[in-house]
Amino acid sequence: MAKIPTSRVDKLLSSMGYGSRSEMVHMAKAGGITLDGAELSDVSKRIPVTRDLPARIQIDGEPLDPVVGMVILLNKPLGMTCSHKEAGALVYDILPQRWKRRDPAISTIGRLDKQTSGLLLLTDDGDLLHRVISPRRHVKKTYRAKLARPLGGTEGDLFASGQLMLEGEDKPLAPAELEVVSDTEALLSVTEGRYHQVRRMFAATGNHVEDLHRERLGGLSLPDGLAPGQWKLLSEDEIALIFQ
Ligand code: URA
Repeated sequence: MAKIPTSRVDKLLSSMGYGSRSEMVHMAKAGGITLDGAELSDVSKRIPVTRDLPARIQIDGEPLDPVVGMVILLNKPLGMTCSHKEAGALVYDILPQRWKRRDPAISTIGRLDKQTSGLLLLTDDGDLLHRVISPRRHVKKTYRAKLARPLGGTEGDLFASGQLMLEGEDKPLAPAELEVVSDTEALLSVTEGRYHQVRRMFAATGNHVEDLHRERLGGLSLPDGLAPGQWKLLSEDEIALIFQ
């Protein structure tokens, strides 16, 4: 069985963005940190870093944030960028501010364009991130595309052929599945994550994507009640759905 890692409380809280280690000492002295209901004055205490810590530790009366290994599902709104450093509105601005100071950092699992909405995952778990984006895993990403012009009727066969070469590339796209919803709307499922892939696929057929929204990632769907800009933490079972 894997050994459970331990950490000093001040180091753990600091790595979770609550403040510097000396600030944690002051916070504890002021009675702001409790462990299992009792005030914790000695933040040099080592504790096992387990997923149940938010139920055991309170900071200023609030449950501790999730420990490392969290996966966030965000309904990405239009107009926000999946970047840590670009100018303008960033998807990270939606999350609690102190999460920007977490170490390991929270990153998006792949990216959606600024003008693409829908299911976006973020995590501080580097191994999980690489498993989801690895082309070898073939995790299917399903997009709803609204098009400027009616579909011609041959797009499904072309996308499924494994022969479509995007402009400026030297390797054809892996086969993708098209489900026609109406003349100007379709669901497209791809297993790769090339730059602007869906928009460029339709552009290769002489069409133009006016509206792009990601609905599914593997077996995970965007929950109905999650409005644009809202997010939730995924359970272990929900994380497992990604690979189904
Ligand atoms: N394909 C695109 O063109 N844009 C995205 O954001 C995702 C896939």
